[in-house]
Amino acid sequence: MDILNHLSPRRFREVDDLLAFISIYDDTQRTRAFRKLLHAHQKQIRGAVCAEGGCGLGVFSTAMAKLGARRVYAVEQNPLLAKLARERIAELPKAVSQRIEVIETPLQEFRPPEKIEVLVHELYGQLLYDEDLWVLENLKIKPKLVLPDGGELLAGVVSSERYADNVVTITLLKSLGGVLIAGLFEEKLHELQFPVLRWQFGKKLLQTTHDLSGEKGDLLCFGVAITHRGRRLCEAGRCPNWSYVWTPRVSDRFAFEFRPSTRGGKDCHFRWIV
Ligand SMILES: C[S@@+](CC[C@H](N)C(=O)[O-])C[C@H]1O[C@@H](n2cnc3c(N)ncnc32)[C@H](O)[C@@H]1O
Repeated sequence: MDILNHLSPRRFREVDDLLAFISIYDDTQRTRAFRKLLHAHQKQIRGAVCAEGGCGLGVFSTAMAKLGARRVYAVEQNPLLAKLARERIAELPKAVSQRIEVIETPLQEFRPPEKIEVLVHELYGQLLYDEDLWVLENLKIKPKLVLPDGGELLAGVVSSERYADNVVTITLLKSLGGVLIAGLFEEKLHELQFPVLRWQFGKKLLQTTHDLSGEKGDLLCFGVAITHRGRRLCEAGRCPNWSYVWTPRVSDRFAFEFRPSTRGGKDCHFRWIV
């Protein structure tokens, strides 16, 4: 869901963000994978002071409180979501709700009165770093454990003949050189072959170079994978929250750059090197 017409940019920003992100809760695979990760770290969560960075409706804050966290700070910058989280948490049994505090602030400005031991977040964009992952490099807190702690942007080269149809024709595709299009084709789930970007908490974004000259195919696709300790938890295509991003191949080399956006966050700049 998105607001489509041009409006005074600031006025409806919060509603637009709310509508854009709320569909993540339709992605049960994503939610299940994150819950599983939390359960696997129950020992570290029980008795600990935890935070959820960008808590949305507070689903993982609630899960951590239920796993025995001593205190959970549910940090959310969008006032509409913070209000929804507060209302939902107030409906939980008191033994759980009284250990969760919703804090309405950007995560990068969050200064709790005590040390945060565990931080859970889900700030991954379709192109890994195009949403809010960069915030984790600008924290005022120093959690001992960050869940999840990594991610990859994977890519693959395929033949457009297997994907193009009567609407998105090969001719149309060829005219889209340099344009990254999310969800253009349905994923067949064998496309992603090699990493092009890697992110690891504390190590920033690592760009890997890949020369496509040995690869056959005129269509490139990208897909994000969420990792913890190098193991994949969920990925684009399998989790409907993230689709593949497609672009016609123009040469053998390309470059990604993420620069601060005028809307806040980072914009992705992609170019073919010819
Ligand atoms: C993809 S949603 C994840 C919500 C929730 N953690 C979950 O996984 O169910 C990202 C959330 O982070 C919030 N967010 C994004 N950047 C943030 C920031 N810098 N500080 C606080 N919240 C942020 C968004 O408003 C949104 O609610």
